[in-house]
Amino acid sequence: MQKFDNYNQIKALCSDCFDKMDKLIFEKLSQKNNGNELYKSDLCNYLLKSSKQIRSCLIFLFAKALNINIDSEIIKLAAAVEIIHNATLIHDDIIDEATKRRGTTTLHLKYENKLAVISGDFLLTIALDMLVDLPPQIMKNFSSALQQLVQGEINQYFSKNKTPTISEYIKKSQSKTAALFVTALKSLADLKAQNNTKTMENFANHFGIAFQIKDDIKNFICNETQKPTFNDLEAGIYTAPVIYTFGENSDITELSTNEILNKIQNSNAMNQTQNLLNTYLNQALKDIDFVSENNYKQAIICLCKMLESK
Ligand code: FPP
Ligand code: MG
Repeated sequence: MQKFDNYNQIKALCSDCFDKMDKLIFEKLSQKNNGNELYKSDLCNYLLKSSKQIRSCLIFLFAKALNINIDSEIIKLAAAVEIIHNATLIHDDIIDEATKRRGTTTLHLKYENKLAVISGDFLLTIALDMLVDLPPQIMKNFSSALQQLVQGEINQYFSKNKTPTISEYIKKSQSKTAALFVTALKSLADLKAQNNTKTMENFANHFGIAFQIKDDIKNFICNETQKPTFNDLEAGIYTAPVIYTFGENSDITELSTNEILNKIQNSNAMNQTQNLLNTYLNQALKDIDFVSENNYKQAIICLCKMLESK
């Protein structure tokens, strides 16, 4: 069985699919975008060069692991997932007033909020354009994911400065992050592997929650150069490390960011958060028992292990 030391080696397993998906995204973006040349190339780079494309990577790995022929429907599905994911990030960075995304200046800082809002909307229209070519069930999956994403964000807005319970935190992670992973793999199953719909949905849900917990852990690590650090805390968004340090439903509004950080550092909260992450990853690993052994399954397992590592 092949061994994978990094994400690029895993992505390389599906380079044929990524080439097709990137070409489709590039064509659609170039055909419909009326902006100036710098803006056009920035938007293309945003989607094609700087993104990890992990959601589409999972679609391709599962398709290959299950011996499914990767046709134009799967390429369109994967492209739509990536485009919607990037649309949500552009809007999310405006909401979070984030200065950096993937190591570079956020789109709204470079071009103003006005253009960034329309850019997210523009990407949504491109994704819709692809989804109308797929069976109606796929559109239903996406509409459900988008509703959950937006509801997750609205809940987060109204829960500011409140310490949620762990179960509320997981529910929020499910709607704002896992929902799109679920739609990606459920749609693949609905299109080509209907016997496995429920198991693939479960995998995506567990993996997606773990992915968000990892992102929240990284928000507390100072040497994270890709994205700003501590901005969740500063915005009054309390994630697992805060919940484990201060308790569910605790009131910490009187404490400064530094006081909160000191308490977290002197507690066992980061280890508890890592344990929570591992619980979801172990469930995801169990969910893929049904896939017979091959290099693609091995790559999916390695992706889970990479998320687990500190
Ligand atoms: C990142 O979370 C944000 C999301 C996963 C979802 C954002 C969703 C919206 C803004 C609403 C939907 C938008 C559209 C266009 C339909 P994070 O802030 O925890 O992660 P980060 O560290 O990557 O910023
Ligand atoms: Mg954000």
